[in-house]
Amino acid sequence: MLQKTPAEIVLIKKACEITRDALKLAKSMIKEGISTFDIDKSIEKFIIDSGGSAPCIGYMGYPAASCISVNDTVVHGIPSKDIILKKGDIVSVDIVASYKGYCGDATRTFCVGKVDAEKEKLVRVTKECFFKGIENARVGDRIGKISSAIQHHAESNGFSVVRELTGHGIGKKMHESPEVLNYGKETDGAVIKENMTIAIEPMINAGKKEIYVLPDGWGVKTRDGKPAAHYENTVLFTASGVEVLTLEEDDEYYAKYRPKG
Ligand code: MF3
Ligand code: CO
Repeated sequence: MLQKTPAEIVLIKKACEITRDALKLAKSMIKEGISTFDIDKSIEKFIIDSGGSAPCIGYMGYPAASCISVNDTVVHGIPSKDIILKKGDIVSVDIVASYKGYCGDATRTFCVGKVDAEKEKLVRVTKECFFKGIENARVGDRIGKISSAIQHHAESNGFSVVRELTGHGIGKKMHESPEVLNYGKETDGAVIKENMTIAIEPMINAGKKEIYVLPDGWGVKTRDGKPAAHYENTVLFTASGVEVLTLEEDDEYYAKYRPKG
């Protein structure tokens, strides 16, 4: 269903709090020498200990609770004991938690120590793309309002937008309609309705937009080997605006977009 009931929204908000807090835990673990496997295992334990579950496990055969994607891996990196973080890496951690049957979905790209200027700008601009996307989008607009603002901000900073992967509605299932493209025209896409919950997730490449999928069937990498970043939140559209349900309380945008009630 595109529009959620008040009772469903309560559960989605709780799932989003667990997702947000699991990301905070992941952030605290980002250090040179740790494997992405160990980060994922802690995320899984945290979700379970919080009374939730991790719907990525077993989703179309996916083997982990989170996707952890380093440098030129755009998304869907399978956590591995063989992937050890190094200084200068950027690491995207994508987490879905579910609570009493409802999902929250969010991603952050973290820096391991000091990263080069291109990566630093890429991480910053990818987050900005998300907030440019929601800045002017309201109930009654089309999803394309979000999509076109994301594309414009990425490309005007010299970066490119991955085309093959998109944001999505979210609720009982982690992927529902509508599709939320990260490119296109303001007049494209579904009309935004009151009490719609969607995951908006710009996936931005420092170089060219082309990608390929690893032989494991999951990991998505940039063709040109340049880095990529990802920033995602689950949001709720209401009559009075937009709430970002997976936003950290200490985020600079929290006062403007915090969940109400
Ligand atoms: N969290 C991803 C998204 O943003 C999907 C995860 S794919 C899975 O849509 F296989 F890990 F579930
Ligand atoms: Co998502």
